Amino acid sequence: MKGNKRNLYFDNAATSWPKPEPVYGAAEIFMRQMSGNPGRTGSTRTIEADRLVYQTRAALARLFHAPDPSRIVFALNATDALNMAIKGIIEPGDHVLFTAMEHNSVLRPLGGLKKAGLISATMIPCSKEGATDLDFLEKAFKPRTRLLIVNHASNVCGTIAPIDELIAIAHRRGAFVLVDAAQSAGVLPIDVQASQIDLLAFTGHKGLLGPAGTGGLYVRPGLDLKPWREGGTGSFSEMDLQPESMPERLEAGTLNSPGLAGLLEGVKFIEEMGLDQIRNREMELYAYLRDKLSRIPGIELYSPEDPSRCAAVLSLVMKDIDCGELGYILESAYGILCRTGLHCAPMAHRALGTFPEGTVRLSPGYFTRKEDIDYLYGALEEIAALKS
Ligand code: ALA
Repeated sequence: MKGNKRNLYFDNAATSWPKPEPVYGAAEIFMRQMSGNPGRTGSTRTIEADRLVYQTRAALARLFHAPDPSRIVFALNATDALNMAIKGIIEPGDHVLFTAMEHNSVLRPLGGLKKAGLISATMIPCSKEGATDLDFLEKAFKPRTRLLIVNHASNVCGTIAPIDELIAIAHRRGAFVLVDAAQSAGVLPIDVQASQIDLLAFTGHKGLLGPAGTGGLYVRPGLDLKPWREGGTGSFSEMDLQPESMPERLEAGTLNSPGLAGLLEGVKFIEEMGLDQIRNREMELYAYLRDKLSRIPGIELYSPEDPSRCAAVLSLVMKDIDCGELGYILESAYGILCRTGLHCAPMAHRALGTFPEGTVRLSPGYFTRKEDIDYLYGALEEIAALKS
């Protein structure tokens, strides 16, 4: 196989690629032909830019079944949205619960707040397959537990958290729930109203198929967050405080309009294809990939066998070879891109038993072909044979 190097992308959990063709074009058209600053003055270009930003907000509200587009606040990415949510809701003295599958985008803001003496926090353990320990959760609430943070789909092993069940438990105890949808938005159905999600953080450049630098936070109506960033909104300019109205309460400064133009096309693509079709395709690819890899001696898999229990994210370790080295060989000899190491989720790797070395993570996407998986299988089989 070596010498027949390809250009195969198995890193959609880091960022999706390729994007639907209109995503590229929309960002360029915005910069070349529109380029107004949404919400600022009433010029034709500004109004057009405003309309486009609103359409993106409305498309996301439709996708997540949000009752009102103004409850979708734009952010730079999921990390930014998670910071906005955590720092906007926490009061000094609060207690926070989070699962072992959380990313550093949750662990580090909580670590900073703990270090500043502002909060206490408890981690809910997860099994070797990434399943949340519900019995532990039931007993972990304290009188000042304000927030439970849960990763919808793990960026390490793909495992999907039972968010409805977790939300019901947290709400019974009077806590709010922040769902990290970095890996699930655009690939798993999300209904913020049916699931009673209080806060949903998402990024635009993964399953939503948009450009990097886009993302957002859904904030349930009635829930008021303290603004995490303050500044110009183009509205209520006479006020010296951030306006009360949404989304301006949490959005300040010039938006990434070219990125949002691209994101709108990504969401439109999802609507046209249908989320069910995208989900089915990804489950089919995951099952095919997992089945193939399970046949290679010396490979240990760290993602659920049942594709309905996970997003298309598969972690593996190959006997007698360091993960970084395996990733390097896959790219340099075969042209296969993946992500290796701890994936910014050290606690998840501890739960899986793969800390500190980490894993090799393969994440196919909607545009991955079965023949790409066949080639990947051949490459891994060849490397495993050389190592044995
Ligand atoms: N959080 C992204 C990943 O898992 C970047 O690769």
